[in-house]
Amino acid sequence: MTDHVRGARARQERIFLDGVRGTRPAVPVAPAALADAARRTLSRAAWAYIEGGAGLESTMAANRVAFDRWRIVPRVLVDTSGRDLGVTLFGRRLPAPLLLAPIGVLEMAHADADVAVAEAAAATGVPMVFSSQASRPMEECAAAMGDAPRWFQLYWSQSTDLALSFVRRAEAIGCDALVLTLDTTALGWRPRDLDLAYLPFLRGKGLAQYTSDPVFQRQVAGDLETFERDSGRVTPAAIATLVQLSRAHPGRFRDTLTSDAPVAAVRRFIRTFSKASLNWDDVVFLREHTDLPLLLKGVEHPDDARRARDVGVDGVIVSNHGGRQVDGAIGALDALPHVVAAVGDDLTVLFDSGIRCGADAFKALALGARAVCLGRPYVHGLAVAGGRGVAEVVANLLSDLELTMALSGCREIADVTPDRLVRA
Ligand code: FNR
Repeated sequence: MTDHVRGARARQERIFLDGVRGTRPAVPVAPAALADAARRTLSRAAWAYIEGGAGLESTMAANRVAFDRWRIVPRVLVDTSGRDLGVTLFGRRLPAPLLLAPIGVLEMAHADADVAVAEAAAATGVPMVFSSQASRPMEECAAAMGDAPRWFQLYWSQSTDLALSFVRRAEAIGCDALVLTLDTTALGWRPRDLDLAYLPFLRGKGLAQYTSDPVFQRQVAGDLETFERDSGRVTPAAIATLVQLSRAHPGRFRDTLTSDAPVAAVRRFIRTFSKASLNWDDVVFLREHTDLPLLLKGVEHPDDARRARDVGVDGVIVSNHGGRQVDGAIGALDALPHVVAAVGDDLTVLFDSGIRCGADAFKALALGARAVCLGRPYVHGLAVAGGRGVAEVVANLLSDLELTMALSGCREIADVTPDRLVRA
């Protein structure tokens, strides 16, 4: 049983008792120390990709500032024994109002990538949202999770057949919900990645959902019939990239190294990845083509939230993609109360972008989010200690949330109401 299942007190006790024997937590508890430990284990390119944001990264800063504008007003002499963090989302009881946000290219953080995260998610009972840009196919992750809850996040590509194929696979592996991400119809302008001239997808990383997909495989097979090799200069870097591509591609390395398929797959991905024309008609189409609960991720304007409700989706995730897409945008938490006021009674409103500790989660819940998604911190845990690191980060956050609630006079999530907060 994981610590957080037994509660914050058991977790604190274990950490402090280990300390008596001279052992400190292998995965730092303080978020800044955790990020620092991750940075030291990662390549420059991996750190840039995981940590970087759009432009001057002012949206990332705004995400944090937005939390500081709200302060918790604790209440005392409330019996908070028998605490319960449980919530019900789309008919499933969850141990806590927390999910693991969809994060692509996890192989940059750890070789076990999505599978390690899936195992940690299953061990803690927290749903994992599989990314379209995952490093391992969703079927492999699902197989590592038993009956534990999983969702799927869709990037809608130029190919509707491919998008629907992803949806069918997500249904087949028992996903509880489908998340359509709207804020990435193009990749944001990210100076850290641009300065290193490094985009993982061009190295074949983060393409596992595609290369394992029957529709994508057919598309690549078609491309191979007229495939022309790149006539550019052969440099050592180009050869190294070719080796990386061949390693990342499914199949035996001996075969993939001599095949054109890895390069064809990357070219096909680049051509199909983003759909700049994505619009409300597509959402209506998707609504008609799946019975899974459907959430739109990246909604920040109340009018978009109202329109989402009107076209029959089930929820929205208030998010700015961790500040990776639009620089100079509002902090995601600043958008949350307006979206909740517009659709909170009709739709399930979730939140991400900037959650680092229990108090952050508390504030988002108090402002009307039904649950929050954890992003970069679990990737830091993955980088530091693989799946165990992810489980530790989740347990720490939930312990922190539990204590923040209890010490503020909240016994259960329903007690975390707007009147618990004041504007700073
Ligand atoms: C992301 N995010 C993301 N979102 C999504 O819908 N599909 C994806 O594949 C990815 N990939 C991804 C990679 C990396 C490295 C990061 C940091 C983020 C966005 C993610 O789901 C979430 O919105 C943010 O991580 C929230 O911001 P914080 O809290 O991590 O700063």
